[in-house]
Amino acid sequence: MTPSPFPAPFPAPRPATLADLEALLALEALCFEFNRMGRRSFKRLLARPSAHILVIDGPAGTLAASAVLLSRRGTRGLRVYSLAVHPGQRGHGLAKALMQAALDHARATGHHWLSLEVHPENAAARALYDRLGFHQTSVEEDYYADGSSAFRLRRSVD
Ligand SMILES: CC(C)(COP(=O)(O)OP(=O)(O)OC[C@H]1O[C@@H](n2cnc3c(N)ncnc32)[C@H](O)[C@@H]1OP(=O)(O)O)[C@@H](O)C(=O)NCCC(=O)NCCS
Repeated sequence: MTPSPFPAPFPAPRPATLADLEALLALEALCFEFNRMGRRSFKRLLARPSAHILVIDGPAGTLAASAVLLSRRGTRGLRVYSLAVHPGQRGHGLAKALMQAALDHARATGHHWLSLEVHPENAAARALYDRLGFHQTSVEEDYYADGSSAFRLRRSVD
């Protein structure tokens, strides 16, 4: 079922819990064709202190958007591992709100930059990251399951 877009302001991003597992999987299936995260991965990440999953609630128990953030010992960078907005909720600023919350979380946890990978043909995501001040730092060859490369991007947290 496609939730109808809700009027602004949409709910504020909140940390996900294990209770969000099914809704996270449903959103993932709607948003990604390949390199999807499965049940085991989400379960593991929901329990792991180095992972922080942010969500925006949608109507009727659904999730409108999610972002998976990963920290790693020995680096001051926080990685945006996944960002997903329900197809019926796009274009309303949800991704921007999640990325703002990611920046706030990075700042609060002493990280100095956000990093992420994006598919070269993902025009919407590239426009989003461009608008948010990310710049390209490298190209990761053979990154996606379809064999294509990824652009690695970074933005400082200040
Ligand atoms: C990319 C994605 C996260 C954007 O989510 P969204 O909630 O629609 O984005 P927002 O409404 O917050 O848009 C923020 C900015 O991004 C850019 N943008 C978003 N969608 C765009 C599109 N389809 N075309 C061009 N620019 C776009 C715009 O600059 C926009 O700012 P503006 O509205 O002030 O011009 C969403 O399309 C998505 O989930 N796609 C599938 C999963 C995916 O590709 N994730 C990213 C993996 S790296």
